[in-house]
Amino acid sequence: MPADEPKKADSSSADTKDDIIFRKPESPDGPRVHKLIAECKPLDENSVYCNLLQCTHFADTSVAAEMDGDLVGFISGYIPPKQQNTLFVWQVAVHGKARGKGLAKRMLAELIKRDEAENVQFIETTITPDNEASWGMFRSFAYERRMPTEEFILFDSRIHFAGEHNDEHLLRIGPFNRDDA
Ligand SMILES: CC(C)(COP(=O)(O)OP(=O)(O)OC[C@H]1O[C@@H](n2cnc3c(N)ncnc32)[C@H](O)[C@@H]1OP(=O)(O)O)[C@@H](O)C(=O)NCCC(=O)NCCS
Repeated sequence: MPADEPKKADSSSADTKDDIIFRKPESPDGPRVHKLIAECKPLDENSVYCNLLQCTHFADTSVAAEMDGDLVGFISGYIPPKQQNTLFVWQVAVHGKARGKGLAKRMLAELIKRDEAENVQFIETTITPDNEASWGMFRSFAYERRMPTEEFILFDSRIHFAGEHNDEHLLRIGPFNRDDA
């Protein structure tokens, strides 16, 4: 197996429906995650090092989706230290060739059914006002599961980004019973 080819994770709660494999990311995934994010505009690109931390320290709350050995989906997430009942979704990326098939929503569902999410009752994320695909995906996820939502501006363009980035609105989904999700 090539050095940069991640082994299949023993920790995977593998869902092989539709030939997609869902698993926890591992450190060799870092460069592939970086490439996928770069291909998924308008996501902000982070350093490979940051992606490596997502694939290691935050592996329990992140998910990689593979189709025919290609990384076609990735969600980075974490449980905020002071909000143990919340899964914060940092970024969601689905490669162009895998979009429109419910993959992003399936990755979210995969995350909240994990043992590590047993105390999770809320999903939070931030979205810029113009990212229609992201609003559409998260709202559809919540609507299908009859989960309540609320939103407000978390990071203001002028105050938090010196005017160089759009506002980031916080979307909170929940409370929910993850057994119903
Ligand atoms: C947003 C993204 C993750 C969606 O992935 P996906 O696997 O195609 O999404 P799903 O198929 O699970 O969900 C699609 C839902 O979102 C909605 N949606 C998708 N693209 C949309 C768009 N451009 N405008 C409005 N709604 C959209 C669909 O209507 C669908 O809802 P429905 O099932 O009720 O019809 C993908 O388009 C992507 O990676 N975009 C670039 C990166 C990005 O913006 N990420 C989100 C920010 S964190």
